[in-house]
Parts: sequence; structure tokens; C-alpha cells
Amino acid sequence: MTKPRPVPVLPAQGRRAAFIGKGGAGKSTLLAYLIAYWKSYGVPCVGIDTDVPGEKENGTLFAHASAVDLGAPVYPAPAVHHIRQEAQRLCPERGICVLDTAAWERKEGNAHLTVMSAVDKVILCLQPTPNELERATSVLGYIQQLKNTGAPAPELHVMLTMVGRSVAADQLEGKLTAAGYPVLRSRFKFSSAMTGPAHIFGQPVRVRAGSEMDKTAREVLDVVAR
Ligand SMILES: Nc1ncnc2c1ncn2[C@@H]1O[C@H](COP(=O)(O)OP(=O)(O)OP(=O)(O)O)[C@@H](O)[C@H]1O
Ligand SMILES: [Mg+2]
Repeated sequence: MTKPRPVPVLPAQGRRAAFIGKGGAGKSTLLAYLIAYWKSYGVPCVGIDTDVPGEKENGTLFAHASAVDLGAPVYPAPAVHHIRQEAQRLCPERGICVLDTAAWERKEGNAHLTVMSAVDKVILCLQPTPNELERATSVLGYIQQLKNTGAPAPELHVMLTMVGRSVAADQLEGKLTAAGYPVLRSRFKFSSAMTGPAHIFGQPVRVRAGSEMDKTAREVLDVVAR
């Protein structure tokens, strides 16, 4: 097995990254893995869960981190008007502050715009279903809105999640790429395995060197760090 490249050095002020996508796209689950892997590489991490906890079937990142040690602190949703400030305050030196978000609906609230104004990078999690190109367009529209006001706007990257049939994912990736969206090579594959993402909620994350998740965590880290 070839040795992985060394992890990138993050800027002194750290990096902030938001994970956005529709309900059930796997954002919170993916983040639990990423935090655990990044911590294992020695990258300081902090999570902010901007999703308000409710009677959710799946549980939030905050609930997951409260049930089990993910290796990094995860804070519950601050008031919307405090998100920017909190993301800056909590971002660790040469580390990453990740922001988990509530489901991206057609009629988004202010929280998503605020979250986007608070981060350097947006990772848009898209399940390969027919309407997802439209969702990418609406997220990009928000980023454009920020640019129009002269505010610093985050860089957008797309990650395909809950990928089952790769033909559907390949089709969506083709459309996204043709439309100019940068799509990560790594995909968060759907798996119902008992030790996999479908059952990870409330469980500790096992970090395995050389696994697909290791490669995913390294690719997302590279993108967030630049
Ligand atoms: N790769 C995967 N394979 C199989 N099941 C998954 C995968 N990722 C997440 N799940 C399951 O799918 C459900 C939704 O995942 P998750 O809560 O992470 O999505 P989310 O995008 O955070 O949703 P929400 O917007 O509602 O917060 C959960 O029950 C989770 O266990
Ligand atoms: Mg979630």
C-alpha cells in the first residue's frame, strides 16, 4: 500500500466549512466520520450544529456527539445572528470548524445564507436524484447573492452522497461538471452494513487507515485547507 500524502498545513486562522444539502442526504453522518478521521490525522476540529434539534428520526450531529465521543467538541445551534461570530470564535488555530446545517428546502430560511456568509467553503451534499442539479443552482444563487452584497463568499464543492447505483451518480456528475461545478472524486456510498453509516448514529467511529472513508476524509481536508 502506498503511503498517504502528509496532511496539509491549515492557515493560522483555521478554515470554516459548511455542509449543506437536502434532508437525509447524509450530512450529519458524513460529518461524524470526517471529524473522527481529521482528528486522527492530528487536525484540530470543532463542530457547530446549526440544525435545531427536534423529533428527528435520524438525530443531529450534536445529538451524536453528545451520545459518544467523536474526538472533537460539537456545539448546538447558536442564534442565527450569532453564527458568524461563533464560527470565527470557535474555529481552532490551524484547524477546522465544520457547520452542519438543517435540510435545504426550496424555501430556505435566513440561517443558510448566514451559514454561507460564515464559512470559507461549502460542501454541497447531493444524492443522485433528478432534481439535484436544481438544488445546486439554488445554492449557487445564494452564494452569488452574497457576492453581490460585497460580502466574502465561500467556495462551493459538490460531493455525491448516499450513492447506490453508480450510473445515476455518473449521470449527475456529468451534468454538474458540464455546468461548471467542481465535484469531489470521493463519493459517500450508501451502505446498510451493520458496522457502516446506516448504523453509526450514537456509535463511536472506527478510523481505518486506507479505507474509502480515509481517502474521502483526506480529499475533503485538502479542499477545505486550500
Ligand atoms: N452512506 C449511508 N449509507 C446508508 N445510510 C446512511 C448513509 N448516510 C446516512 N445514512 C442514514 O440515512 C439517514 C439520514 O442521514 P443523516 O441524518 O446523516 O442525513 P442529513 O443530511 O444530516 O439529514 P437532515 O437534513 O435531516 O439533518 C440516517 O438514518 C443515517 O443513518
Ligand atoms: Mg443532519
